[in-house]
Amino acid sequence: MRAVGSVTPHETAYDRRRLRQWLAGQARAEGVTRRRLLTLLAATAGGTALSAAAPAHAAGPSILKPLPPEWFIPRGTNAETRWEALSGTGHHTPNELFFVRNHTATPVLDAAAWRLRLWGDGLRGAPGEDRPVEFGYDDLRALPAVTRTAFVECAGNGRSYYTTQQGETVNGTPWTLGAVGVARWRGVRLADVLRRAGLSSHAVDVQPRGLDAEYVSGGENLGRVRRPLPLGKALEDVLLAYEMNGEPLPYDHGYPVRVLVPSWVGISSVKWVGDIEVSAHPLFSPWNTTFYRLFGSAYPKEGTAPLTRQTVKSAFELASGATFPAGRRQVLRGRSWSGAGGVARVEVSTDGGTTWRPARLHDRPRAGTWTRWSLPWTPAAPGPAQLLARATDTAGRTQPDTAVPNTEGYLFGAVVRHPVTVL
Ligand code: MTE
Repeated sequence: MRAVGSVTPHETAYDRRRLRQWLAGQARAEGVTRRRLLTLLAATAGGTALSAAAPAHAAGPSILKPLPPEWFIPRGTNAETRWEALSGTGHHTPNELFFVRNHTATPVLDAAAWRLRLWGDGLRGAPGEDRPVEFGYDDLRALPAVTRTAFVECAGNGRSYYTTQQGETVNGTPWTLGAVGVARWRGVRLADVLRRAGLSSHAVDVQPRGLDAEYVSGGENLGRVRRPLPLGKALEDVLLAYEMNGEPLPYDHGYPVRVLVPSWVGISSVKWVGDIEVSAHPLFSPWNTTFYRLFGSAYPKEGTAPLTRQTVKSAFELASGATFPAGRRQVLRGRSWSGAGGVARVEVSTDGGTTWRPARLHDRPRAGTWTRWSLPWTPAAPGPAQLLARATDTAGRTQPDTAVPNTEGYLFGAVVRHPVTVL
């Protein structure tokens, strides 16, 4: 139950309370039927009734930026960054190389016409949708700006290794390790916007919602992408970002404004945000009930609490199956990151995990972003080899040899065996 350990007891208790309140009819659950939530509670160990169907494909291109095959692996409505393309790119992932995860398709929005509407019974003097508080793009840009380096990483990043390394069958996009990127985000604190909107002392949850098309899964319209955030996190370090690496947000990454929730699973960072419900009652959506919890034999029937922080991971800046000449000195490079703190130590094995050497770190360990590292290697004999990297974060979490499986293949955190060939 290691993955559950990343959710603090406080968060777990909070979630249980929300579920109880929902069942007592005290919480809103737009888009989640009572039947669905009861199914969730009665989920079988296999969790099959809850698996996410493949996303509906939009008629046009789902992603607008160019996706050259040397940079991206196409994955349905999504695009995975190739790790070898990150070689030499510096700490921040260039916008052109940043992975894209779209439930439907990138909308092209006009910043001049865009409005952010805050509404709900968690605001003072704005009891319903009829009296919202609105901010335009220029209003946000006039507020104090903050800049922060942070990764966005899909909860399913690394999912395919549950199958290829552990023989497990899991649902969802078979990402390797490229559903992650680090950018310098600039925007305003969600806390500042909430306070200006008149945050009430009764507020408990906020729910940002995207302006992209409604998401249809398994024939059911789940509405627009939205996921509640506990107020504590919303006030702590969440941004409404309008710049990515010094440029206005690209269309595919949320233009004109996206939510950026540092260290948490990527689904929290809602793109193309159009409104935020501020609620005095716990909120539910399909994205914190049916999706983005852990289900499976190692977990409670109703699944874990909604996922929050990411696991620890490491990746080499190499193609799978990269080749190296025997007897020549190489420098292996890679990056490691964690949702629970900075990465303080990385060990690398070039002999399939028999011996390990400490890698040299090229970044100061910092929460919410990765640490780059390198290690010299002179491959001896020709033949297949496996490279492994194992990181430890400042919270003391080390990547294990295997990850506890869950039906949706979220939060893979085990050491990945990277195949190469020595020629
Ligand atoms: N926000 C909206 N409105 N629609 C989406 O499909 N996908 C989420 C999140 N925010 C999504 C969204 C998921 S699952 C992830 S991992 C991140 O956006 C991906 O962000 P990126 O495409 O900028 O890399």
